[in-house]
Amino acid sequence: MVIAPSLLASNFGRFEHEATRADRSGAEWLHLDIMDGHFVPNISFGPEVVRAVRPHFSRVLDVHLMCSKPEILLESFAKAGADSITVHIELGDQVTPLLWKIRSLGRKVGLAINPPTNIAAVKPYLSQIDLLLIMTVNPGFGGQPFIEECVPKIQQGAAWKRELGLNYRIEVDGGVTLATVAECARAGADTFVAGTALFRHRNLGGAVRKMRDTATKAAAELI
Ligand code: DX5
Ligand code: ZN
Repeated sequence: MVIAPSLLASNFGRFEHEATRADRSGAEWLHLDIMDGHFVPNISFGPEVVRAVRPHFSRVLDVHLMCSKPEILLESFAKAGADSITVHIELGDQVTPLLWKIRSLGRKVGLAINPPTNIAAVKPYLSQIDLLLIMTVNPGFGGQPFIEECVPKIQQGAAWKRELGLNYRIEVDGGVTLATVAECARAGADTFVAGTALFRHRNLGGAVRKMRDTATKAAAELI
């Protein structure tokens, strides 16, 4: 199981300190939400923040581009230190060239899907990706409630992974807390983004361990 604290919920005045805290917490990934104020009604941070936190987080920097024109940003994020770069299926016919470009930059390839979008939209791309990101809130802000109706999309993503013999990770993002993580794990998710539920804790390590244990136990119930 991978736990990925979302920097969007951290103290924006202390990014290096927060990245160090996440590193010490044992979180496998650090999730970086990039918002352009156009694809989503919010603006967060850009490549320079990724560059700033890179030396302070020793494992995977998981960059989630909620941007209308990610093609102009991919090289900057790769150079800044992103290990994985995710773009949205809602970008339509731009998706194929975007996935190729991320791959050509030597980064892990992620594809995200918003709550209203039918899960069938991602099926043609599953063999080209390393990560399927199922949004469980409408993107743009942390601290929103989990959207239960997205759980069947996690199950469908997991079913296709088995049926097609593919190996992509299944990440959930938005409203993931100790109360919702078990349901996501039982549905087939193996990678959990959490902002509010993790960064607000003084003991981030304890919160990460608790979330990972809850997810692992829930998944084990399926066997
Ligand atoms: C929302 C972002 C999420 C968000 C998660 O657009 O993609 O990653 O930061 O925050 P919480 O865990 O607080 O819902
Ligand atoms: Zn995100």
